[in-house]
Amino acid sequence: MEEKQTHLNGARHRPSLISKIVVTVLLGVVGPSVFVVLLILTPKSLKIQVEDAFLVQFNLTTDNYTLHYNLALDISIRNPNKRIGFYYDTIQANGYYDYHKFGTVSLTPFYQGHKNTSVLSPVFNGSQQFSFPESSKLIPKFNTDTSHGVYTIAVELNLSFRTKGGRWIKKGHFNPLINCDLEVPLSSNGKSAARSNNNECKLDS
Ligand SMILES: *[C@@H]1O[C@H](CO)[C@@H](O)[C@H](O)[C@H]1NC(C)=O
Ligand SMILES: *[C@@H]1O[C@H](CO)[C@@H](O)[C@H](O)[C@H]1NC(C)=O
Ligand SMILES: *[C@@H]1O[C@H](CO)[C@@H](O)[C@H](O)[C@H]1NC(C)=O
Ligand SMILES: *[C@@H]1O[C@H](CO)[C@@H](O)[C@H](O)[C@H]1NC(C)=O
Ligand SMILES: *[C@@H]1O[C@H](CO)[C@@H](O)[C@H](O)[C@H]1NC(C)=O
Repeated sequence: MEEKQTHLNGARHRPSLISKIVVTVLLGVVGPSVFVVLLILTPKSLKIQVEDAFLVQFNLTTDNYTLHYNLALDISIRNPNKRIGFYYDTIQANGYYDYHKFGTVSLTPFYQGHKNTSVLSPVFNGSQQFSFPESSKLIPKFNTDTSHGVYTIAVELNLSFRTKGGRWIKKGHFNPLINCDLEVPLSSNGKSAARSNNNECKLDS
């Protein structure tokens, strides 16, 4: 009974030589090879950021909750991989204000070579009437943003792409949602070097 107790406490317990060897072999051989396999199979992730944001109009008509918007963006996508290219089959940009989607822009599919940077330039221009805005913070948020002269807008990139090359790379379709949080001031006369403060985009799913 006493012996069992100390054994459970682990105070006197020493791993046997055999179990030491087994652990060493596992860590020394299996560990690194799993690591190498992961290195080979996973393409380096894309680096996506908002380079420029021009907000020419952002006007909420509060009696019928209609947003008039004109937002032009330059979003860069960097492929950091040495041997892998990407076919972007569908590129959709969605604009959100306070979780309300106000616009969708589809961009032309293209191929991006290895170690290359591409710039997407979606333009959101139009108007959108929101439904059920009573339950939302839309109007207070709009009033706060207007008083600061800076609008917090989210742009989501909905990408669908395939890899090309890289013999050991996992093949298949990737379908990520990427979120870019913007803080954009209104550009007067459509002329502004306005750059969003928070320009790094993050993977959503
Ligand atoms: C916003 O809309 C109001 C009413 O439609 C208009 O008077 C005003 O000029 C608009 N502002 C901008 C910046 O478009
Ligand atoms: C919203 O109201 C403005 C004027 O207050 C009007 O110009 C506009 O057409 C209305 N939009 C909709 C979708 O009803
Ligand atoms: C990157 O892409 C552009 C446009 O497709 C092309 O002109 C350029 O040669 C490419 N650069 C590299 C390093 O592949
Ligand atoms: C935005 O749309 C309006 C009306 O549809 C049009 O008059 C204007 O030229 C457009 N602006 C841009 C920058 O596309
Ligand atoms: C993303 O785009 C695909 C079409 O390419 C569409 O079926 C899907 O609903 C979109 N997802 C979102 C969240 O917009």
